[in-house]
Amino acid sequence: MRLSLRFIIPLVVTLAALAYGVTPLVNQLTLRWFVRDLDIRANLVANTVQEPLEDLIKASNRSRMSQFFARITRDERLFAMGFCPSAQDRPVQTPTMPPEIRCADLEQFSGPSGHLIESARGPVLVSVRPLVTETAPEGKLVLVHDMSFIARRSAETREYLFYFFVALGLIVSLITVVIAQLSWRGWVQGLRALLRGEGLFRPSNKPDAPELQPVASDLRALIRDLEAEHRARDEEQLAWTPDTLRAILHRDLRGQELLVVSNREPYIHVKQGLGVAVQRPASGVVTALEPIMRACSGTWIAHGSGSADREVVDQHDRVEVPEDHPAYQLRRVWLSPEEEEGYYYGFSNEGLWPLCHVAHVRPTFRSSDWKAYLKVNRVFARAVAKEASSPDPIVLVQDYHFALLPRMVHEMLPTATIITFWHIPWPNPEAFAICPWREELVDGLLGSSILGFHTQFHCNNFVDTVDRLLEARVDREAFTVSYAGKLTAVKRYPISIQWPPAGALVDQPVAESDEEIREQHQLPTTHAIGVGVDRLDYTKGIEERFRAVERLLELHPEWIGRFSFIQIAAPTRARIGQYREYEGRVRALADAINQRFGGTSHPPIVLRIEHLDPQEVYRYYRAADLCVVSSLHDGMNLVAKEFVSARDDERGVLILSQFTGAARELSEAIIINPYDIDECAAALHFGLTMPAREQRARMRLMRGLVQEFNVYRWAGRMLIDAAGMRRRGRLLEPAVALKPAIQSFDMASER
Ligand code: G6P
Repeated sequence: MRLSLRFIIPLVVTLAALAYGVTPLVNQLTLRWFVRDLDIRANLVANTVQEPLEDLIKASNRSRMSQFFARITRDERLFAMGFCPSAQDRPVQTPTMPPEIRCADLEQFSGPSGHLIESARGPVLVSVRPLVTETAPEGKLVLVHDMSFIARRSAETREYLFYFFVALGLIVSLITVVIAQLSWRGWVQGLRALLRGEGLFRPSNKPDAPELQPVASDLRALIRDLEAEHRARDEEQLAWTPDTLRAILHRDLRGQELLVVSNREPYIHVKQGLGVAVQRPASGVVTALEPIMRACSGTWIAHGSGSADREVVDQHDRVEVPEDHPAYQLRRVWLSPEEEEGYYYGFSNEGLWPLCHVAHVRPTFRSSDWKAYLKVNRVFARAVAKEASSPDPIVLVQDYHFALLPRMVHEMLPTATIITFWHIPWPNPEAFAICPWREELVDGLLGSSILGFHTQFHCNNFVDTVDRLLEARVDREAFTVSYAGKLTAVKRYPISIQWPPAGALVDQPVAESDEEIREQHQLPTTHAIGVGVDRLDYTKGIEERFRAVERLLELHPEWIGRFSFIQIAAPTRARIGQYREYEGRVRALADAINQRFGGTSHPPIVLRIEHLDPQEVYRYYRAADLCVVSSLHDGMNLVAKEFVSARDDERGVLILSQFTGAARELSEAIIINPYDIDECAAALHFGLTMPAREQRARMRLMRGLVQEFNVYRWAGRMLIDAAGMRRRGRLLEPAVALKPAIQSFDMASER
């Protein structure tokens, strides 16, 4: 209706204006026509009366003349008539002659055309015609035509014109609206029908010819893609929160089921005395995914590794977590000690971990470990298939423990969308090629719909590796790999942390945290504090960090007794020899440095090899003057981002290894090469003496980045891409349906 009014109103207004403008013109025109007609009539009357009038003049019969005039003026148009003789005789005229017309003033009415005057009776046309006989001019004949009918006619004309334009307006609007509606409806219905796979002009619900279906899906996908693009643009403007994520899941993925698979579980139940305690593991994967699962719900499938894990699960090995506010389901998978040994310690952490990290630790590959890895991947894949309540869930596969699982899940649930995220670096093809099962690993990963890495560099390395190892179609423009009938998009998703940080972590004022930590370590307020928080892993560069502290004290002895570096090192993978050796080396080095510079009561290195809960870790972050992340190689390193998120006082200095993914984002940190001990020592000194203003400026920028690119955005981007991929995936189905149509078309054209 509103659309119709848009047509009608301007049309009516235009026509009304036209009518308004045209009416005076029409009036003038008709007046001119009437005057001309009446002039002709006046001539006609003058000529007609000439002869009888001559006779009457000759006979000087005034009364007959009067009667003659009276007879003629019975015609309603001819209103009055008179004769003004040339001699001084009195005029003869009908009594209707307007007083304004006098024989003495006839000069003003002379000429071939009549003169319009306003008399007491209304408008009249005065025509004066000379009456000439053979001998001499006899006088002037005055003919007065009544013109009031013109005013009446003009009013009528106006009225007719008005009705005419109204009718015209209505007819034109009606035709326009009908045509517009018809063509619009036709398009929309046609488009809708096409989108439903029906013919444009056939209002049937029957499935249409297969050749139309790809077009319909194409259009459908195009429209959705455009919508998604618009939404993505909107989302760029949005603050990323758990609600944003939930909205994406409900809107773009229509509330699809979400399954997460990781080795490490987010909550570990351990026996403590007679009771059960819950532990939160020091794991990058858990740090990133826990807030996502809280936001989106779903099921997290992980290895049940805690001593009390079996005690708290139901008969399906599930437990609702977190305990206080259950938000999602944790499904535990049980592994035998042998399986854990081969799959986790062996292949994952003695093989793949050193293979992917350039930390100059040799990988160890054993065929028994490989078998266990294969077996456990299958066990987890079956758990995914069992937990899936729909044929096409979204499965988020985490990390290097499950390189084979994507292909397995793809075979079990071909319509599932599998997003695999590789949390550690991917080496170059030469380095990766030393693995005896390199092809199998890459093949397994290519069962994913999307394969994510933290940096573009690692995406490039992976695509190069595929190119080198497999007969796959690699599209370097779209960054996709097509292999064994499956298309995998290789994409960069830099992981992040929850923002804002959980209230419990930053509730305590910075000054209080500082006070507590100083009290705990008996450090005076003038004492500078550096902090490092890591798993006790050889990739973390903890030895290099200690050597840098030692070098600082050598180069700047003024810091001796005035600076302590507190290293929190969570024990990890301690069953592996390389880790035990590493712990030994780290302890020995800390002791040696403390002995060398520990003449005072404040040792330069404080080593806490233990697992601390996140609250305590944040207390250290908030008390420290600087934080050192000196990984020799790291996919991202979330400690760097956590430190930044902890410093709402905009103080503190971050010293960050150039070999972390985080260094590509947090460029306002002091970037170091951890192998260059002198450079690291200089960075420590620079950090310890950095003016508050500069600290604030750098910290503000880094906080802005972590805030903007938080973990919700990391997950959200993957889910948006998954949604897009599902839409495009649906496109391929009609393409398959098109094949028989094309074949029959080909056959027909051959015939
Ligand atoms: C790295 C890996 C994670 C793993 C974490 C802890 O950050 O990328 O997948 O969770 O180390 O290792 P852990 O072996 O203790 O699970």
